Amino acid sequence: MIATRILGTGSAIPGKVMTNHDLEKMVATSDAWIRERTGIEERRILEPGRATSDLAAEAGAKACASAGVSPSEVDCIIVGTVTPDMPMPATAVLVQQKLGAPVGAAFDMSAACAGFIYGLGIGDAFVKQRMFKRVLVIGVEILSRVLDWKDRNTCVLFGDAAGAVLLGPAEGGARKRGIFSTHMFADGSHWEDLYIPGGGSKHPTRPESLEQNLHVVKMQGKAVFAHAVRNIAAACETALESNGFKAEDVDLVVAHQANLRIIDGVAQRVGLPMSKFYLNIQKYGNTSSASIPVALDEAVREGKVKEGMTLLFCALGAGFSWGSALVRW
Ligand SMILES: CC(C)(COP(=O)(O)OP(=O)(O)OC[C@H]1O[C@@H](n2cnc3c(N)ncnc32)[C@H](O)[C@@H]1OP(=O)(O)O)[C@@H](O)C(=O)NCCC(=O)NCCS
Repeated sequence: MIATRILGTGSAIPGKVMTNHDLEKMVATSDAWIRERTGIEERRILEPGRATSDLAAEAGAKACASAGVSPSEVDCIIVGTVTPDMPMPATAVLVQQKLGAPVGAAFDMSAACAGFIYGLGIGDAFVKQRMFKRVLVIGVEILSRVLDWKDRNTCVLFGDAAGAVLLGPAEGGARKRGIFSTHMFADGSHWEDLYIPGGGSKHPTRPESLEQNLHVVKMQGKAVFAHAVRNIAAACETALESNGFKAEDVDLVVAHQANLRIIDGVAQRVGLPMSKFYLNIQKYGNTSSASIPVALDEAVREGKVKEGMTLLFCALGAGFSWGSALVRW
């Protein structure tokens, strides 16, 4: 079987910065509280008039450019998002149109903050099975449009961004370079810990659903925190064990940037120093499915990812859905 390699990375970040001090004017919070409890200093907010597919297409185009591949050679686009442009069609087809990619497969995938890991796993399988040759995996979220800006428990945590990787067949054999493994997990018994109730078939968009404030993120923060540390750490261990690796074999961890204390808890459980984790949560907050590909793209552009390095990706999100991937760069 052939292996899959990440051929290129890209990201798109909105220009508008919202700092913790800005939030102090909106809800009963403080810069000190947000920094201490989460590590977040500021987040980005997409300007009015632009939508999820605009940011996704920008990140996707950059991933193609960094790989030296024309979007016309992309034959599958997977968009991980819980904040699509609209319920239908898929945001992925809008991205396809904006990129000028030819007719290929294009679909959205809903696994919340684990959306990029799930997309990577599906894209990896497609390439390995020779179903598609160039798969663009995008994680994108415009969470600012589904936040309750009066709820300090949630509105301080999230931000908008898009990140992308272009996948293709690796040369040189499966164990030399490429995606060594992806693992995906879910446990639907905790769905009420993190969800957006309205806008679907259960609570369609109606005057009542708006009155009841059902179209915004609802979260039990403490429960999410505990599950995140435990399950992300377990997924990391599964990734290492299934490849016969030890924690010290990992050069860089690109974890979902939800909370600095969650990352610290995972580091302790897995036995990895924080110095091995790439961190940009302070700049962007939690950008859900975008956070890993954005962090990866920044790490690549900063020269922190070098050929031959072993990278570990890991995330947990609503569902709960979670997973990990081990990649030799
Ligand atoms: C949300 C989170 C930061 C809260 O941190 P915490 O240490 O658990 O804080 P608590 O929930 O114990 O809240 C402590 C107090 O701070 C208050 N508080 C909550 N948000 C606040 C804010 N933005 N500013 C100030 N105070 C706040 C709470 O109301 C609570 O007050 P009380 O004791 O009077 O009831 C943390 O639980 C978390 O990060 N959870 C995971 C969230 C997440 O990552 N979600 C996405 C997953 S992909």
